[in-house]
Amino acid sequence: MKAKKLTRRQVIAATSAGVFGTMLGFPFRSFGINSKIQQKKLAINGGEKIHTGSWPGWPYWDQSAEQGILEMFRSGRWWRGNGEHVAEFEKRYAELMGAKRCLATASGTTALITALQVLGVDAGDEVLVSPYTFIATYNVIFSHKALPVFVDSDPETFLIDPKKIEGRITDRTVAIVPVHIYGLPVDMDSVNNVAKKHNLRVIEDACQAWLAEYRGKRTGTLGDLGCFSFQNSKHLAAGEGGAILGNDDFIMDRCHAYHNCGRPYGSMKRAPGNPHNGMNYRMQQSQALILMSQMNRIEKDNDVRLANALYLDKKLKEIPGIVPYKPAEGATRAVYHLYPFRYIKEEFNNVPKDKFLQALSAEGIPCSGGYGKQNKDGLIEEVLSSRGYMRLYSESRLKRWREENQLPGNDQLCDQAVTFYQSMLLGTRADMDDIVNAITRIYENRASLV
Ligand SMILES: Cc1ncc(COP(=O)(O)O)c(C=O)c1O
Repeated sequence: MKAKKLTRRQVIAATSAGVFGTMLGFPFRSFGINSKIQQKKLAINGGEKIHTGSWPGWPYWDQSAEQGILEMFRSGRWWRGNGEHVAEFEKRYAELMGAKRCLATASGTTALITALQVLGVDAGDEVLVSPYTFIATYNVIFSHKALPVFVDSDPETFLIDPKKIEGRITDRTVAIVPVHIYGLPVDMDSVNNVAKKHNLRVIEDACQAWLAEYRGKRTGTLGDLGCFSFQNSKHLAAGEGGAILGNDDFIMDRCHAYHNCGRPYGSMKRAPGNPHNGMNYRMQQSQALILMSQMNRIEKDNDVRLANALYLDKKLKEIPGIVPYKPAEGATRAVYHLYPFRYIKEEFNNVPKDKFLQALSAEGIPCSGGYGKQNKDGLIEEVLSSRGYMRLYSESRLKRWREENQLPGNDQLCDQAVTFYQSMLLGTRADMDDIVNAITRIYENRASLV
C-alpha cells in the first residue's frame, strides 16, 4: 500500500492521537509510539512520565584493565618518568587519530596552555575564539595574559561563524582557537584559509571531539595543534587527562619540554646554564592505563551515538519548533559529546525554554540548556579590569573590545539551545522513541504549560 503523504502538522496530530501507525498500515509500535503519549496530562502536571526506565551510566570500566593497573600500582612506577604506559598511550592515540605525534598531558586545560605557549601566544596578544564553549577555552588565553576576542557563533551549526572571523583580526591577533563543541566539526578549511592569509596559528579545541571528522580527517589534526580532554564525562575518560596532537616535530618537541618542567626533548638543545621555561603538566601512568582500556570501545560507542543522533534528527525535525543542528560545510562525522537542538519557543505558545526543560525532565528525559552567554560573564570583566590587563592593553583597546562584544548569533543560540548527555545516546531505539514521544507530548500539551 502506498503511504498517503501527510503534512507535518497532520503527522504530529496523528501521532499524538495514536492513529498514525494504523493510517499507514503499520502496527502502532513500529513507530515507537508510546501509549502514554496519548495521555493529555504532562508529567510536570501530575501525569505519568514517558520514560520510566534508567539511562546508560557513565563512565564504564573494563575488567580486563584491572590487572595491569594493579601491577603498575604495586610496582611503584606511577609517573611517566619511570614507566612505559604514557608513551604507549601516546603512540596508540596518535595512530587512532591519524596524527604524527601525540603528547599526553594532565588535562585538556594544560594541553591548551601548552599549545598556546609553544605557538607563541604572549602577553598583549589577541586570540580569536568561539564563544559557545566551556570556560577553559578562554581561561587558557587569560593564563597567557592575552586577550580573547570572541567571534560570533552561527546558531544553526552551534559553531564559530567562519564569515565573521576576518573582521575581528587586529595587528595584535596571533592565533585562532576554533572549538568543535559537542564533537561537531568546525569548517576548518575556512578557518585555515583566514589563518594562512593573516599568518595566524590555529589551535583546535577538540576537547569534546575524539574521532569526529572533517572532509574525512579527524578533528584535532587539521590546525597547527589539536587539544583533547579525557575528563570523566568525556567519550574517552580517565577522570582527568588530556593530549595534544601535531605533525611538526619541532613544535611537538617543544610541547614535550614545556609540559615537563622545560627539560629539553628530541631536537632541543640546552646551552649550559640556560634552562627552558616549562611547567609540570605530565599525565600519570594510571591515567594512561585507564585510557587504553577505554580505547577498545570508543569507535563502537561513537557508531551507536551517531546512529541514535541521526534517528533523533529525523524524528525531532518533524516537531514544530524543534530544530536539530546543521552540520558545518565539510563536516563528515560528528561524535555528539552532547546531542544538540534548538527550541523555538514561539512554536510552543511562548513557553520559556526553562519551563520546557523542566517539563522534559519530568517526563524522565534528562536535558540541559547548553552554555550561557559567556562573553558577558563577570569573569571576563574581572580580568579586563585587573591591574595587569590595564597595563597591557590601552584604554581605547579595552573600550573597543567592550563595544564590539556583541554577538547576536551566539545570544540566539544560548537562548534556544537544548542538549542531551552523550551517554543517553548509548541507549536503545526505544529510549530514543521516548525522547521523541516526550517532546511530541509537550508540544501537543503546550497550552497547559503557559
Ligand atoms: C571545549 C572544552 N575545552 C577545554 C576543556 C578543558 O578540559 P579539562 O577539563 O580536561 O581541563 C573542556 C573540558 O570539559 C572542554 O569541554
